[in-house]
Amino acid sequence: MVGKLFASGDLQADRRAEFAETLAYLGDLDAAVDVLQGALDLVPTWGAGWFRLGEYLERAGDLTGAARSWGRAIQEQPDDPFGAGLRCDLQREQPLSDTMPPAFVEMLFDQYAPRFEASLLDHLDYQGPQIIADALAQISEPSAERALDLGCGTGLIGPVLRPHCRHLTGVDLSQAMLDEAFSKGLYDRLDKADIQAMPRPDQPYGLIVASDVFNYLGALERIIGWCAASLTPGGMLVFTVEYTVGRDVTLQETRRFAHSRTYVSDLLQTAGFAMLGIHDVVLRKDRGVDVRGLCVVAQARTVTGRHLDDGEAQFDVVGAD
Ligand SMILES: C[S@@+](CC[C@H](N)C(=O)[O-])C[C@H]1O[C@@H](n2cnc3c(N)ncnc32)[C@H](O)[C@@H]1O
Repeated sequence: MVGKLFASGDLQADRRAEFAETLAYLGDLDAAVDVLQGALDLVPTWGAGWFRLGEYLERAGDLTGAARSWGRAIQEQPDDPFGAGLRCDLQREQPLSDTMPPAFVEMLFDQYAPRFEASLLDHLDYQGPQIIADALAQISEPSAERALDLGCGTGLIGPVLRPHCRHLTGVDLSQAMLDEAFSKGLYDRLDKADIQAMPRPDQPYGLIVASDVFNYLGALERIIGWCAASLTPGGMLVFTVEYTVGRDVTLQETRRFAHSRTYVSDLLQTAGFAMLGIHDVVLRKDRGVDVRGLCVVAQARTVTGRHLDDGEAQFDVVGAD
């Protein structure tokens, strides 16, 4: 993850860091820590170096030292492109971050973009497009003048949405992912933005979709509130989350978040949505194991405050936590 950025700019420090990498690779973590510490004495503002030192310390069993080192990485680089804050959260077994640092997500997907589709479709058996297509097929009126693909990535959901709208916008944090989406020629507009920090749109959307994106956000209050404010009356929101039982939000070992069924449905109801469906799905595989998720379909409030179907579910709400 740090790979590309793992250079401090100081020749001597970089040599030491490379030697530390070799020592760590050979399993001599105490020596790796010493040598990298020496490099950091030369360049104490080197965020990536502090992050890597935290990794060595964690592997060596010094969790306190690791947390201190990751804290220093954040201090040196407050936009936290390495996800040091998440590593501290994982150690505490409690997500204190309410989201992933945007710089971390951006770097992750900028690096991933060229092999994203091959990896997802060929190796991870990604089901996102089919799950969204199935959800739309169950909505009585899925078409909209304007649709928005939140966290559109390389545009895998574009072919599913295109027949349902006249104008399709995609938003993503990663320029490299957006470039891939652009090459598909399916989107009328592609914007580089953090979906957690967008202003309200000039014109509302009739359909908002987020496939495999909210698992990069912890607390969903802000984005669900934004969707409620950005949909036309009666407009549709369709999204997936990774699924957890118990806690509202869990930061998983994968460094993605998972959300509980009750958290999601309570949140949508509070934001004035009618729940039309919340289905168990398998999103993809991770190291050969099914990643379980939920596909959620909700309808925004109409002008009168009632829902088009008077709040009655158009298809089944499955299961309970
Ligand atoms: C696993 S990909 C899914 C892409 C696409 N929705 C699909 O189903 O193929 C997750 C995407 O969400 C984007 N993303 C994650 N957090 C984001 C945020 N806060 N703002 C904008 N995009 C975000 C990432 O850059 C990445 O392209």
